[in-house]
Amino acid sequence: MLAREGRAEATVGRGTFVRGPATAGAPGALRVTLAGSVERLLDMERSHPAYAAGAEVAPLHALTPDPGLYPIRGFRRALDRALDEDGDRLFGYGDHQGNDPLRAALRAHLASHGFDTSADDVVLCQGASQGIALALRLFAESGDTVAVEEPTYRNVLGAITALGLRAVPVPMTPDGPDLEVLERVLARPEVKLFYTMPSFHNPLGTTTSLAHRHALLALARASAKPLIEDGFELDLRFRGRPVPPLAALDRSGIVVHLFSFSKSLFPGLRIGAITARGRAVQGLLALRQATDLSGALLLQAAVARFVSSGAYHRHLRTLRRSLRNRCDALLDALARHMPAGTRWTEPEGGYQVWVELPAGLDSRALLAPAERAGVTFAPGYQFHLDARPSHALRLTTAMADVDVIERGVAALARVVNEELEDRAQRPRARGINV
Ligand SMILES: Cc1ncc(COP(=O)(O)O)c(C=O)c1O
Repeated sequence: MLAREGRAEATVGRGTFVRGPATAGAPGALRVTLAGSVERLLDMERSHPAYAAGAEVAPLHALTPDPGLYPIRGFRRALDRALDEDGDRLFGYGDHQGNDPLRAALRAHLASHGFDTSADDVVLCQGASQGIALALRLFAESGDTVAVEEPTYRNVLGAITALGLRAVPVPMTPDGPDLEVLERVLARPEVKLFYTMPSFHNPLGTTTSLAHRHALLALARASAKPLIEDGFELDLRFRGRPVPPLAALDRSGIVVHLFSFSKSLFPGLRIGAITARGRAVQGLLALRQATDLSGALLLQAAVARFVSSGAYHRHLRTLRRSLRNRCDALLDALARHMPAGTRWTEPEGGYQVWVELPAGLDSRALLAPAERAGVTFAPGYQFHLDARPSHALRLTTAMADVDVIERGVAALARVVNEELEDRAQRPRARGINV
């Protein structure tokens, strides 16, 4: 029967074989035309590395929190309570803004970061990723330009491409985005907004000062251009004095703030929050209505209980301790193993550290030998708008405990040293040939 339907091929003496699916090139198959923005997105995706996996490879590229640190038992209790107490209400459509108790719990939580807002200004979303897409759509449409830091979060470049937007880079300095360049960029009429990560920048791991934040806000106010503040690791500070989010310092309502539970609780929940003001909130709700109606109420209700019972706060204490230990192990291993001329950032929170290799090296070219030596990292080119070669790379502590970090950095250092030795010998070899 399968053979008659063309799904299997039977040959006497050989057996019966399942036929592969029709490919785009198969006779009769229709080749669909994808939107130009999607073709560009596919091109971008193709240029990203497929990382090696396996117990022998230290995954220092990953930005997914370690499942070993998930507070599953406590979360199960919160989920059970949500089901017992509100079960039937949690299986319907919610309103676009999201579960009331979670918005109230988030309001209180954000206030603990010095960010006083109202639950009416909090819109729940599916992780900061959806927050990024909604916030971009709030202010910009196809053909518009948005300003981003360079280097920046790789997926924001994808979101920009998918929406048919253009991106203009604002270079990062050790103090944060270059404010002189930003001022010029924001003055351009086609530039609609600036996307920024003031705390625990991805990929740099850096945090801007209070003075820089005030200056940035003043620029945004003067140009009347909104800021999208990505606070995806807001809860992950493990040392140093907290600096209030831009949104906490903003008096004129030009900051749209994104929060996420992905890096501090579970990424699979897909729960984040956008905080905005006035018409921006109305706009977000309308976009939500036009996109996906609402999020998963049951999970939102469980997180509300997890946060308001104090379990989230207790979990954060453990998580931050572990992050600090891992970060210390990483910085210590870099200092012991990496060759002279290597520089790196020293984060006060989050998972990521930016490493600049000695000049002249291309981190992308080192990825394959590094994987063979037992370590992965995120090469710097992917965080650039034009994917130009970079001697830098991002290391993370998310999926590696201190032993794996030590092993991974030692392997990376071996590969970098070998490359440097190779380079040192190359000119000599050429000399002999001449
Ligand atoms: C800077 C930044 N923003 C947002 C996200 C997306 O997070 P979420 O899982 O909340 O969508 C990530 C994930 O790595 C990120 O690095």
